[in-house]
Amino acid sequence: MCGIFGCVLRNEMAGPIIRSALERLEYRGYDSIGQATLSSGKIFVKKDKGKISEVQKTLNFDEMLGKLGLGHTRWATHGMPSKENAHPHLDCDGNIAVVHNGIIENFMELRKNLEPKHKFRSRTDSEVISHLIEDYMEEGENLEEATRLTAKRIKGSFAVAAISNQEHDKLVCIKKESPLIVGVGEEGVYCSSDMSALLPLTKNALIMEDGELGVLKIDEIKFIKIKNGESVKKEITKIEWTLSDAMKGGYPHFTIKEINEQPTSIRNTLRISPIYHELIASKLCDSERIFLIACGTSYHACIAGSYLFSKISKIDSRPVIASEFKDQYSEILNSKTAIIALSQSGETADTIEALKTVREKKASILSITNVMGSSITRFSDIYIGQNSGPEIGVAATKSFTSQLAILTKLALTMATKRNSMDEENRREIDRGLKTLPSYIEKVIERVDDKVKSIAKKYVDSESFSFLGRGINSATALEGRLKLLELTYTPSLAYPAGEVKHGFIATVESNRPAIFIAPRDDNHNKIINNIMELKSRGAKIISLIEKDDKKIIEMSDDYIEMPQMHALLTPLTYIVPLQLFAYYMAVEKDLDPDKPRHLAKSVTVE
Ligand code: G6P
Repeated sequence: MCGIFGCVLRNEMAGPIIRSALERLEYRGYDSIGQATLSSGKIFVKKDKGKISEVQKTLNFDEMLGKLGLGHTRWATHGMPSKENAHPHLDCDGNIAVVHNGIIENFMELRKNLEPKHKFRSRTDSEVISHLIEDYMEEGENLEEATRLTAKRIKGSFAVAAISNQEHDKLVCIKKESPLIVGVGEEGVYCSSDMSALLPLTKNALIMEDGELGVLKIDEIKFIKIKNGESVKKEITKIEWTLSDAMKGGYPHFTIKEINEQPTSIRNTLRISPIYHELIASKLCDSERIFLIACGTSYHACIAGSYLFSKISKIDSRPVIASEFKDQYSEILNSKTAIIALSQSGETADTIEALKTVREKKASILSITNVMGSSITRFSDIYIGQNSGPEIGVAATKSFTSQLAILTKLALTMATKRNSMDEENRREIDRGLKTLPSYIEKVIERVDDKVKSIAKKYVDSESFSFLGRGINSATALEGRLKLLELTYTPSLAYPAGEVKHGFIATVESNRPAIFIAPRDDNHNKIINNIMELKSRGAKIISLIEKDDKKIIEMSDDYIEMPQMHALLTPLTYIVPLQLFAYYMAVEKDLDPDKPRHLAKSVTVE
């Protein structure tokens, strides 16, 4: 999730206007920043890795004059954070500048075709855009048509703004699945990834839809369809948001925004080139021993991941809490061991410490992280980026589902290599994964109000227990962690089969039990567990598949979920639990984004 901004101005102030717009977009990405302006018929670019405040000190973007310009704040997906990989990207001769937010899925193939004739300077997927536009302009097209034809060639998601020194009065922008808004002000017209950058400049916005192209000139704005060039009419929308509303996309907190972002973040996660999964899967298949290590939410993704590895890939792996790893396992590591480290931040001290031991023992380090260029990516032999975009709420939400989606893909890739699962079943999971974003969209839409009312009803409960079986014992742990983090409510999480070994003694009516109970192979057993608790006076809240009458009858409250492959259920059943924790925090008047005593990234052991 990067931020892009572009402007066409009456005055020459492009440099400072873009810089201050990027400051307001920085929450969308902050590993690199760059600007391009057109002045005296030439395009000037300044860019570097680092936060805006740091880079501004050395590059001083405010000195960049011009009426036309672009800016970008980056959250790396393809290519580490570096000066070369920072946007804007130019064509071969520096006549065209481009900024991009999104993921170009077919960039490798496009780059291969372009490479013999073009000079590539970065490792990004985005750079193909400037070279494609260059080719079309060389063939005689204007910037608008060259950008439209380019948009038809690229697959994936994009919000792109482009300028050319051949057409000094306009900016061209295109959109598909990444946000883009056009602002119309007295002093200029603008395009931006979101409202936050537009706020001090104008309150008049034109919202771009997927598949549209905009041509912005100071006194004329037009929109056409990328598909056929047909003209599109738009009405001005008045922006009534404050800056903080705008950054949160209109949601009251980042946490709820990020919960709602999961369909998009999973879509982006699944866009990662299969090559990365192939590389890691090969390493894992060749290893004698596999460990999955992490802390917090990432550790819960490891637990679910190890179920997926054994059930789909028929391969043994062990999830281990990073802080315990060295003590228990350092003596048995060797070059035939593979470690998968999961970390949203890529900076968690306990995980890094564990990896130091791993490195000494010459085991392979594979990682899944949301921050390219983080310490953990630097430690790793191979890594996969989560592509979740920055997660600002302290409690991890969208990063959990992205990590788990990657682990599912990995398990499926290994299954193909090892021929460990019948093809039909493998395909069913793969199809399920692809439809997951739209399923989660529906889940959020359908359960949001119900979860809110359940949170209201149970807000004064003394504690909760989260119970699941099989892979959903990981969902139970993660549901409990969300509630702990956001509401500080002491709670338990158990594999449901274990309740009779102690837990059952704690049952009371003011300590509701939340059952994660899809209709899977464990269904009958979990029904027994529900009865055991109900008969001892526990209030039962259940997460069930639609129309599961048996469990509905036993439940005080229930949330119905769509039917899906049993192994994909943690990816969706976690969503109502995230919402539950969030609405409980709101009911209790706590700040869900910044729970007390907690840090987003724990950089001490
Ligand atoms: C902290 C955060 C959690 C996170 C955990 C692991 O405890 O508050 O949200 O799950 O660290 O972080 P990582 O960045 O390694 O995934």
